[in-house]
Amino acid sequence: MSREFDLNELRHLDRNVVWHAFSQMADYDGLIIDSAEGCWLTDIDGKRYFDGASSLWCNIHGHRHPHIDQAIRDQLDRVAHVTNLGMSHPATIRLAKRLVDLAPGSLEHVFFSSDGASSVEVAMKLAFQYWRQREMPEPKRTTFLALGSAYHGDTLGTVSVGGVSRFHSLFEPLLFPVLRGPCPDSYRLPNGVAPERASEHYLTEYRKILEQKADQIIAVIVEPLVQCAAGMVLHPAGFLRGLAGLCQEFGCLLIADEIAVGMGRTGKMFACEHESVEPDFLCIGKGLTGGYLPMSATLTTHRIWQAFLGKYEDSKSFLHGHTYGGNPLSAAAAHATLDVFERDETLLKLPAKAELLRIRLGELRSCNEVGDVRQCGMMAAIELVSDKAMKTPIRWQNQRAGQVCRRVLEKGVWLRPIGNVIPVVPPLSSTLEELELLTDSLSYGLS
Ligand SMILES: Cc1ncc(COP(=O)(O)O)c(C=O)c1O
Repeated sequence: MSREFDLNELRHLDRNVVWHAFSQMADYDGLIIDSAEGCWLTDIDGKRYFDGASSLWCNIHGHRHPHIDQAIRDQLDRVAHVTNLGMSHPATIRLAKRLVDLAPGSLEHVFFSSDGASSVEVAMKLAFQYWRQREMPEPKRTTFLALGSAYHGDTLGTVSVGGVSRFHSLFEPLLFPVLRGPCPDSYRLPNGVAPERASEHYLTEYRKILEQKADQIIAVIVEPLVQCAAGMVLHPAGFLRGLAGLCQEFGCLLIADEIAVGMGRTGKMFACEHESVEPDFLCIGKGLTGGYLPMSATLTTHRIWQAFLGKYEDSKSFLHGHTYGGNPLSAAAAHATLDVFERDETLLKLPAKAELLRIRLGELRSCNEVGDVRQCGMMAAIELVSDKAMKTPIRWQNQRAGQVCRRVLEKGVWLRPIGNVIPVVPPLSSTLEELELLTDSLSYGLS
């Protein structure tokens, strides 16, 4: 039996035994959360914090939502886990059908994994294998076309397609080569490119690559509309649709990584819907279970699925899997999450919340250090700069964004910076009052 520890022992163990993700453990000093309710976290000292980062962009309807809690409890009374290697469970089967019905385009098949990176790896491997065993094989397709400053997870495959140098460059010797286009950044446009021509400019760059290399490309991989880990970089309107059009024109597959932007975050259930894009692969995770339990899914088309059918000895199966893929407890949480979307009309309520964020965050533009305020639905970010006119980012090494977040915490709001950017990603269920508290606290943090 594990013994009980007092609060100081817990703090000591948390700093010295637990290895926290994306954290410098030499001076680690994070919150230890004891419980949560709605959009509020309570730490072991009893202090309450508004969860302004949605527990890393995955909490949607709040913590301890009665319907989701009950669905998990009910599932526990049946079975907690069933392997999906040769077995299944009704909750998982029904979830696959529900996702297929919700997803854009003709995505008809679902492969379940446990986390976002795995679902992207699945899409990449499926796409690779597809070209090798379809009726007219194209084995020369051995590379992916990825975007500048892309982030698709932290496994070596996803780091290979990733392009955030601060996270990824160290691992270069371990990575496979990919083709890389520019980051379609709306804030830092190349010299001479007007905002209304931004999309056209970036698409021309992608066209050039495809004209030369399309027959080597397995798939183009994109985070639709917003590159979140890059610092909530917004694509210019029309870029996603144009990129999907180029994929069609040049016969490349399109992988839409909606791990962060999917599940209502941008105002529609899936970001691809904003630009009527129908990808060949759709990766979803994070909010799929409402931010309760690990689950991700890779959705794909019948065309891809068919290329994997054959006799056992043809060895066309997808030899890949994760122990907890399709876990019934996670599936129950996902069903309940989708139920709440329907019952509470979550998406219909978002425009008023997003508008409040737009107005209140917009007021922060006047702060000296705020170079940009950007937003897509319920994802927003403040970028800190040292020179507004030149858009020079404040050096991340200065940890200025971290200082601002620590001041925001004094006001009872938890935010987590990425370099010189402060993402504002509250739960979709946040009330207008809670969003006002968040923006007021941010204003205090910046003052
Ligand atoms: C766009 C995108 N893809 C993939 C991932 C990886 O997801 P996970 O951390 O669940 O592996 C993330 C995580 O933030 C993400 O933002």
